[in-house]
Amino acid sequence: MWGGRFAQGPSAIMREINASIPFDKVLWRQDIAASKAHVAMLAACDIVTDGDAEAIIDGLEQVAAEYERDGVPEDWDLEDIHMTTEARLAELIGPVAGRLHTARSRNDQVATDFRLWTRDAIEEAIAGLEALQRALVTRAGEHADSIMPGFTHLQTAQPVTLGHHLMAYYEMTARDISRFSAARERLNQCPLGSAALAGTGFPIDREMTAQALGFAAPTANSLDSVSDRDFALDYLAAASQCALHLSRLAEEFVIWASQPFGFVRMPDALSTGSSIMPQKKNPDAAELVRGHAGRIVGCQMALMVTMKGLPLAYSKDMQDDKPPVFEAASLLRLCIAAMVGMVADATFRTDRMREAAELGYATATDLADWLVREADIPFREAHHITGAAVKLAEKKGVALEALSMDELKEIDGRIDDRVYKALSVEASVAARNSHGGTAPDEVRKRVAQARRALEMEA
Ligand code: ARG
Repeated sequence: MWGGRFAQGPSAIMREINASIPFDKVLWRQDIAASKAHVAMLAACDIVTDGDAEAIIDGLEQVAAEYERDGVPEDWDLEDIHMTTEARLAELIGPVAGRLHTARSRNDQVATDFRLWTRDAIEEAIAGLEALQRALVTRAGEHADSIMPGFTHLQTAQPVTLGHHLMAYYEMTARDISRFSAARERLNQCPLGSAALAGTGFPIDREMTAQALGFAAPTANSLDSVSDRDFALDYLAAASQCALHLSRLAEEFVIWASQPFGFVRMPDALSTGSSIMPQKKNPDAAELVRGHAGRIVGCQMALMVTMKGLPLAYSKDMQDDKPPVFEAASLLRLCIAAMVGMVADATFRTDRMREAAELGYATATDLADWLVREADIPFREAHHITGAAVKLAEKKGVALEALSMDELKEIDGRIDDRVYKALSVEASVAARNSHGGTAPDEVRKRVAQARRALEMEA
């Protein structure tokens, strides 16, 4: 009844909704590498002749050279990168091209190409994070003694060193790297040869293709191989967690670069001006790292929801697996690069940091600790006495160590003038020398370990 009216419409819509070539063309290198490995194996197993395999490999190399030179053509009728490449191969070498698709399907083909692409993305992320770690460790070494306020609730809590603060991000990125490495490890099995879903009756050698493509082994179940995308989700989960860490560091830069803080001058190369307010220097790169983290997490959500209700084996929904992974990878690449530049080239205003550490009674805990240690007062009572000292200092508008001995004695007679030594910010950080604490010697120890791990020593 409605066929006449819709006859043109649905086929045009079908073509458009079905075409993945606009985005999966980025898989061309992986697609050609996997095809070369496949046909070499078909020849080794006497499934195609050596002559045919040679012609196909030659042809694939020509196609690769064309893509390299001119880009990948986007013909929606050819749907995807696999059909586009095979169609061009047939134009170049004739009907023998048709032998390439023996004992495989686009289902194991796309699973293989996408794993190869994701493996590269993981390696790129790890290399980027190592560059970030080098920058963090270098700056932390320069600032193992630079005192700044440490915050909880963004309220001045206790003095810490800038080196300690930066090394906190070294630890976070180390865990990010281990998440990416674990994802790489699990990903590294080859689905090629699983064919459409059930395997194949041709006498193929899956070990051979796995090895040629740098996989540790062939996958063990053909249904699983063509239908799971947990390797991509592992990547996105690691990327999301990493982006959260980068976003927190970016947020610190945004706060530190603000005028009331004035802890950092951002590199000009990673800032912008305002078209209307000439005095402004905006930390746009840091803000965009913070923003992009939201998009990366969105990519993870997108693929999780795509996958959640799919029965075995392949369903076309899975064609939508690629855009979120490609998007997350290009955002993550930018975020890491921006943070490397920010950490390496920011000017830390250690004078302002130190000044801020001296405000806000950051050494109040040191007074309480001193009372415990030197006067054997229980911590809770010491906390109370210290509170009274802070109250008096606040009333007078002075720092704790500016209170006179008489004033302190009036608060508690057990205080004596040795206390002043404990109240400086230097004494405060030097005292926190527990394993992993902020004491400059502890920070230097960890920096040295990190430099060795990153092979930064000559
Ligand atoms: N372009 C497809 C994808 O990315 C390739 C697999 C097509 N397989 C199929 N049975 N239609 O998922």
